Amino acid sequence: MAQPPREAVPRLADLELELATPRLTLRPYRDSDVDDIWPYTSDPAFPKLMSWAAHAEKSETLGFIGSTRQGIADNTDCTWAIVRDGKVVGTVGLHGIRWQFRAWRIDRAELGYWLAPALWGKGLMTEAAHHVLVFAFGELGLHKITVGCLEQNIGSRRVIEKLGFRHIGRHEDDVWRDGAWHAHLRYELTAERWSDVSTTMPLARPISRPRPT
Ligand SMILES: CC(C)(COP(=O)(O)OP(=O)(O)OC[C@H]1O[C@@H](n2cnc3c(N)ncnc32)[C@H](O)[C@@H]1OP(=O)(O)O)[C@@H](O)C(=O)NCCC(=O)NCCS
Repeated sequence: MAQPPREAVPRLADLELELATPRLTLRPYRDSDVDDIWPYTSDPAFPKLMSWAAHAEKSETLGFIGSTRQGIADNTDCTWAIVRDGKVVGTVGLHGIRWQFRAWRIDRAELGYWLAPALWGKGLMTEAAHHVLVFAFGELGLHKITVGCLEQNIGSRRVIEKLGFRHIGRHEDDVWRDGAWHAHLRYELTAERWSDVSTTMPLARPISRPRPT
């Protein structure tokens, strides 16, 4: 049965945010990470399936790193640097963390992520996001995680499916980018569903779920 909200809202700044997965370390960003991620943040082709544009100056990437620290301090966003073999190779985060809307408790956040292209297809993002979900539903005590991706983002769709999210809809002509309107797929995962699916989840192994059409 779904659990009621926690009475006290936890503060990210009070929690241990370093997470160890079998192949990765997830930890808050440091300014010194800027050189590791600059090749990705500055590549004009890299963010084309995401909502941001490539950075023209390293100072923008430093600004991004600073904003991740601010999000933790404000208790609104928890962004992790994904570290593999001592280098930052990606980002995973819980964004727009919100506990209350007027008289409602909503206890939710939106998942987001990206990974260095050389490492795609090895199950690494599924592994990283899986551990973020363990944190989100466990230590943080959120009730629902939402996620979305552009319809043509097949890799992200697979990550979302493998994590056990439920497809809730397709938003037609939802965002304009590169000269076209793109459809957006939306998904959600409740704490209750997570407690069902995560126990039987073969981490980072393909599972057979019907794909949204
Ligand atoms: C999306 C992204 C994070 C996936 O990371 P990853 O570590 O490669 O993910 P995983 O290996 O855990 O899973 C990817 C799955 O997609 C599949 N996949 C990837 N591209 C595919 C394609 N073009 N056609 C079919 N399947 C594809 C992989 O085979 C794998 O599925 P499987 O485990 O069933 O074989 C990575 O591609 C990325 O950073 N993309 C750019 C940023 C981005 O799009 N972020 C998400 C925005 S919503």
